[in-house]
Amino acid sequence: MTEKKTDQGFTLWVTGLSGAGKTTVSKIVADKLKERGRKVEVLDGDVIRRNLSKGLGYSKEDRDTNIRRIGFVCNLLSRNGVVAVAAAISPYESVRQENRKLIGNYIEVHARCSMDVLVERDVKGLYKKALAGEIKNFTGVSDPYEEPVNPEVVIDSDKETDEESVNKVLAKIEELGYIEPEKTISGYTPEEEEKVNQRLTDLGYL
Ligand code: ADX
Repeated sequence: MTEKKTDQGFTLWVTGLSGAGKTTVSKIVADKLKERGRKVEVLDGDVIRRNLSKGLGYSKEDRDTNIRRIGFVCNLLSRNGVVAVAAAISPYESVRQENRKLIGNYIEVHARCSMDVLVERDVKGLYKKALAGEIKNFTGVSDPYEEPVNPEVVIDSDKETDEESVNKVLAKIEELGYIEPEKTISGYTPEEEEKVNQRLTDLGYL
């Protein structure tokens, strides 16, 4: 018997420029999936580069190695029923496609943001340095970012709230059948249902 899709692991691969909101959205989606009974592991580029990929730099070769390593771990997790959420720039299409093929249960999210907004936000101060030529090969400034060709979801952190982006991702995961739709039989979400119940209790009906 084949395993139900709602019991299968999968990989949510979040790609996009530094500062485009990959980590933020990944963490919120991960929490939501945990609330819905899934086992989830987040593999964040910045964290991976301090352990699994320690010593790697930002040449195409090193980035490809980094992305293959993350893809390898995502595959191990996904095939054991875990949801692996990868948040890494992953600028090259061919390695992303390699991971898609390897993993199979793979959902790609393109976290987009205009360069103007990235430079204005510059949370880590890296764009300023890159534009001044102090950091070489900086993605989007002096190094390529290949736009995903067939992402399942595109989120725009300069046009949407985090909540809107998260909901788009969760809706796609539902649509693909990896989680049950959140709406209950009554047509309310659990949160709405809770409010209705509370109101009925307050009024003395329950
Ligand atoms: S990837 O290209 O190999 O996917 P990854 O997501 O792991 O990149 O790491 C990107 C992070 O490394 C950025 O968020 C930033 O903090 C830091 N960084 C340092 N140098 C660079 C650079 N030259 N290009 C992009 N990110 C850099």
